[in-house]
Amino acid sequence: MIERTSVNIIEHTRAVTRCALEIAEVFAKEYDEKIRVNRDYLLAGALLHDVGKLFEYEKVKGKFVKSEEGKLQRHPISGAAFASQHGLPQEVIHIIVSHSKEGDGARNTGEAVIVNHADFVNFEALEI
Ligand SMILES: [Fe+2]
Repeated sequence: MIERTSVNIIEHTRAVTRCALEIAEVFAKEYDEKIRVNRDYLLAGALLHDVGKLFEYEKVKGKFVKSEEGKLQRHPISGAAFASQHGLPQEVIHIIVSHSKEGDGARNTGEAVIVNHADFVNFEALEI
């Protein structure tokens, strides 16, 4: 389970990805050429935005706790490093590294802004 929620990472990732794609769809219909969204980058970035959580947490005695790596690097950083190691495009790496608070003031693509908001609206709504 993700901290303080009853949603697991698969449900969260699927919901964030679907929200991001819906936002892009609305933008395409409402703004046409005024906002260009690369759906390939958006889809890959949304699906992988939390991949670093696989390194940030580990299972100890049946419970998920912060790993030693996770105590030093939060998931946006470890996820971006993982994506870079596997040759993903810089645009996708940018989405991963900037999707959370580490990216405040540093989101430089529309795709990164969309994934950031899709992520936050999901976990903030679940905290209420
Ligand atoms: Fe997320």
